[in-house]
Amino acid sequence: MRSFNHSSEILRLLKKKEYKSLGLVPTMGSLHEGHTKLIEKCSMKCDETIVSIFLNPTQFTNKIDLVNYPQSIKKDIQIIKKVNKNAIIYTPVVSDLYSSPVKAEVFDLDGIDKIIEGKFRKGHFQGVATVVKRLFKKFSPDFAFFGEKDYQQILVIEKLIKKYDLKVKIKSVLTVREENGLAMSSRNFLLDKETRYDAKIIYESLCIAKKMIKTNDISQIKFFIGELFLMTKKFDLEYFCIVENRSLKEVKSFNSKLKLRAFISVKAKGVRLIDNIALF
Ligand code: PAF
Repeated sequence: MRSFNHSSEILRLLKKKEYKSLGLVPTMGSLHEGHTKLIEKCSMKCDETIVSIFLNPTQFTNKIDLVNYPQSIKKDIQIIKKVNKNAIIYTPVVSDLYSSPVKAEVFDLDGIDKIIEGKFRKGHFQGVATVVKRLFKKFSPDFAFFGEKDYQQILVIEKLIKKYDLKVKIKSVLTVREENGLAMSSRNFLLDKETRYDAKIIYESLCIAKKMIKTNDISQIKFFIGELFLMTKKFDLEYFCIVENRSLKEVKSFNSKLKLRAFISVKAKGVRLIDNIALF
């Protein structure tokens, strides 16, 4: 299966096929095992799978981050083919998704895009929502697959679907981790070997929070995690927070009736790494 730069070619191809369900796995390339899990799940659930590879400029609030984002299109295509040799690969030219000037649409997402990551990357989720909505509109997939490493992104997209009445069901897939616990991310490719190993502290700190939650105040946990990162020196803690898992609103005290989730963002030698886990 070759890759297509224009959605019209894919739509033409789909017209000729008989299928009951179409799945979409949107990616920005530089694929890792987290992505292969998404493609695997999509291929199991759906008769036809589209994998898009598009480095979406409107979701990058920092131009240097965009320029430095790892890219490996040939390798990505090999990876996809290994998982599903029949997957349809969409590698669009920018003009297939954006007219000029390239900019994000403005969505009212009830503020879910403005908290946690949204505070640190202003406009990021508007860029994500723009490209994801365009992919949904182009292909009308029945299902779309996203990883829980970007948990807030999943909630943003669910909000987008609800508010704009899009007919696609989201399937969220558990975070895939490296052997040391570090969440798989394309950004891990930017880390040197030692930093990539030491970055296990990110997941470890989330696990510590999970252990502490029932017997400690949230302020004590936050203090502990803050101190932990001050000691490591190698990693700058950008934020650590404990929130209710649907509204993503911060909670101040433990309440067994609420489902809580911890989120963290850390900078390692200029590379931003995020992670999150369910606390119970
Ligand atoms: O999660 C990502 O890789 C991106 O945010 C996505 C969903 C492909 C949109 O560009």
